[in-house]
Amino acid sequence: MDTDLEAIQKARPTSAEITPLIHNRWSPRSMTAEPLRQEEILALFEAARHAPSAYNGQPWRFIYATPKDPSWSDFFNLLVEFNQSWCKNAAMLVIVCSRKNHEHNNKPSRTHSYDTGAAWMALALEGASRGLVVHGLEGFSYEKAALVAGISNEYQIEAMIAVGRKGSKENLPAALQAKETPSSRRPIEEIMYHQKMS
Ligand SMILES: Cc1cc2nc3c(=O)[nH]c(=O)nc-3n(C[C@H](O)[C@H](O)[C@H](O)COP(=O)(O)O)c2cc1C
Repeated sequence: MDTDLEAIQKARPTSAEITPLIHNRWSPRSMTAEPLRQEEILALFEAARHAPSAYNGQPWRFIYATPKDPSWSDFFNLLVEFNQSWCKNAAMLVIVCSRKNHEHNNKPSRTHSYDTGAAWMALALEGASRGLVVHGLEGFSYEKAALVAGISNEYQIEAMIAVGRKGSKENLPAALQAKETPSSRRPIEEIMYHQKMS
């Protein structure tokens, strides 16, 4: 068996059989710096486009840069030092934001972040199905991200995403090599309640 799959089985056994794409997705950090093809970039955002949302409002927006873009260093410099240490080999950085108000009545949406989380997961699964690294990021300057990507205050910055081709563990700084393995999950009893939570 593939060593990644073995590690997944060990770190996160399931209490019921689930779709392998969901079970096998994880967030490696090691990337090779090899560029993505335009069709791969398009496919990731296309997957996000198909997420469900309240009133079908589709509040998610994705602003991306690749290393050959003039904005790459601005995107990269948003990241905290820890994230820079492994994102230097990313093939794409994405800023994810969501529209705070509904478009149909301009009233606050309760679910814009929730909907955008669904869109990010669709993107992550599409990437996983293609064998790409798709890694969520919150270690960056949210304030500067709005300026760098020209995002107005109608939108809430949610997160960033690093995407790239999976590299070997040895590409990473020593301290990160030990962490380059799928993480565990809470037991199902801690998230699933019948009728009442307490
Ligand atoms: C919104 C979000 C923000 C994250 N921020 C960071 C980050 O700044 N740096 C990092 O190394 N990992 C980050 N992660 C990765 C998580 O730590 C990782 O997804 C979590 O440990 C679960 O592991 P898995 O994705 O391999 O299943 C982030 C993930 C998400 C979804």
